[in-house]
Amino acid sequence: TLFQRGPDATLRMILRKPSHERTPEELELVFEELLHIAALSHLSTSIKRELSSIIVFEAHAQAGTILFSQGDEGRSWYIILKGSVDVVIHGKGTVATLKSGDDFGKLALINDAPRAATIVLKENNCHLLRVDKEHFNRILRDVEANTLRLQEHGKDVLVLERVAKQRGQHSAFKYTVMSGTPSKMLEHLLETRLGGQISGVDPFLDDFLLTHIVFMPVVQLVDELANYFHCDSHDGSQTPEERDYIINFKKRVIQFMQKWVMAVRHAAFDEPSVCDFIEDLAAEVEADPELQEETSIIHNILTQMARYQDDRNQNAGQKWKLPPNGQPICLFSGNITPSKTVIRPDDDIIFRVYCADHTYCTLRFPLHTTAEIIKACAADKLQLNRGPEDLCLVEVKSNGERSVFKDNDVSIPTGLSLNGRLFVSVKDHIDGLTPLPEQEGPTEGIDMDLEMLSTKELAYHITIFDWDLFWAVHEYELLYHTFGRHHFGKITANLDVFLRRFNELQYWIVTEMVSTSSMSKRVGLLRKFIKLAAYCKEYQNLNAFFAIVMGLSNMAVSRLQQTWEKIPSKFRKLYQEFEALIDPSRNHRAYRVFVGKLQPPLIPFMPLLLKDMTFAHEGNKTSIDGLVNFEKMHMMAQTMRTLRFCRSRSLGLDPPSPKSEGEVRSFISCLRVIDNQRVLTAMSQKIEPTRK
Ligand code: CMP
Repeated sequence: TLFQRGPDATLRMILRKPSHERTPEELELVFEELLHIAALSHLSTSIKRELSSIIVFEAHAQAGTILFSQGDEGRSWYIILKGSVDVVIHGKGTVATLKSGDDFGKLALINDAPRAATIVLKENNCHLLRVDKEHFNRILRDVEANTLRLQEHGKDVLVLERVAKQRGQHSAFKYTVMSGTPSKMLEHLLETRLGGQISGVDPFLDDFLLTHIVFMPVVQLVDELANYFHCDSHDGSQTPEERDYIINFKKRVIQFMQKWVMAVRHAAFDEPSVCDFIEDLAAEVEADPELQEETSIIHNILTQMARYQDDRNQNAGQKWKLPPNGQPICLFSGNITPSKTVIRPDDDIIFRVYCADHTYCTLRFPLHTTAEIIKACAADKLQLNRGPEDLCLVEVKSNGERSVFKDNDVSIPTGLSLNGRLFVSVKDHIDGLTPLPEQEGPTEGIDMDLEMLSTKELAYHITIFDWDLFWAVHEYELLYHTFGRHHFGKITANLDVFLRRFNELQYWIVTEMVSTSSMSKRVGLLRKFIKLAAYCKEYQNLNAFFAIVMGLSNMAVSRLQQTWEKIPSKFRKLYQEFEALIDPSRNHRAYRVFVGKLQPPLIPFMPLLLKDMTFAHEGNKTSIDGLVNFEKMHMMAQTMRTLRFCRSRSLGLDPPSPKSEGEVRSFISCLRVIDNQRVLTAMSQKIEPTRK
């Protein structure tokens, strides 16, 4: 057959003719031969018949002939009948050899991307079949297999999968990355998602920028980008085409940097290697007349970098104090305003560490300090006289629950539960640790008659306060939280503080309710809280809304039957609507539908975003057969983009007419909270004993 021996003279003659000159008999002959070609075996009979009329024969005499070059526009798809070809990639050399029966050149056609490799004939006298782009698009594009695999040195390096057609969404890419090696994915990204004009939306680039820290550390990324940028430095002599190609590559690296900084903002500048690289790039761009258009891009990046570094230097060594309850308080060290303050890894935090007999020491450490160091230092100050291997750092919650920190864990103080305390303990004695008496009760905080405060004003200031905390949370913190911050050695302090705020609001509601013993006051308070939830919903602060409604649905509050009976039915109905909205069934469907219709700015129900991250993490492996499972990265990036969407417009609420602004602000920043459910339930029993 054709496939085994190469076509005979008759067939070659037919296959060289233009389609309209092929007779029905000749087409039948070609069709018979196509049935034996492996590369076509997945195609239907009717498609093979269509191919019979347009498929072309091509013979090349000379080994070393370049069929096409990396970066070229794709014009045809090829099947090897006889002979073999090398797949050559800039900076890598020959990555694969394809032989008779193999096909190549699909990628550029399917994705309208430049050629990903150069194809060089390896033998004299090679025979190929060719299908040109217009025919390929008409006949094959839509029936192509679901998966495309690229190999290098005999191993899969990139697996692409057909994108399910989505209504309304218009992507230029038929195939998207499912898995791959980090380097090949970066290469594919640089060559197909940057450079030319790309129409339509494709999240691959953004997914990569948001999640690469999971599979490709920044240092490696910068290293590879530098290699791409300098791919011309090895060989001096270049043809004009090569020069073009190389310039293109440099442009792509600059564009990559631009998108990177846009996607992760200041986090890109936190690594010294990135800053050095940006400065190198700037120097190169300025020296190269062919990169003139890139100067403004790189200058823009430099400006942002300088601004960030200035800001960091000015606010260096910010100090935070962890009060016995409530949010960490910034002890200002400069001229920064209290709002929109990001907690940084080298900021100091002042906190207490207790030991079994409830004596304590006060420590001050940067947030990135590991549990191991805190433990050793606390043991020393408390004169425990035990080696670090015998000791551990433990949180004791108000209900007596204990959780032990790993030695390499960081941002410990901000991760404590509301009334939790940090203990250093001998490993065998952890079970003997007891909470401090003060962990039971509402400790500090301002004693104020809530009745005196306007509900709308409360909701307004709660929202402003939450917005600032939410604003400080970086998308990366979701990854650190999900994979475990000790994997990255990065702090999650801003996220910790925001989550802590959720619990604080929730338990504050319960605490206020059960510590109001007068029935009439309690009825008033219940109405006030329902109204408060309504205002938070109106302000699109869904995090506070959930916290309040969950607080009201806490057993200690929901069992107060007599109180609930006395509020007007209008309020009960409103509350029922709210309960339906926080209903977790069908994966929080009610909330998802509701929030899906909102426009930013909004504060999302944060615990659900974390649940989505964890779900994606636990349900999917990070690596499959040695390749990064990029589908998982995509799922995580989707959730991370939610944060971006929520904050894509700044909060511009109309302030309610101020009645007691200062009071309200200091009140809501330090709420009095009991977070021990047993205590709350007991208090609830006391004010409304169960009727027997
Ligand atoms: P295309 O990008 O159109 O042109 C070069 C072709 O080389 C490419 O399609 C693939 O079909 C083929 N190829 C085979 N192995 C690889 C590889 N490891 N990387 C890129 N292209 C490859």
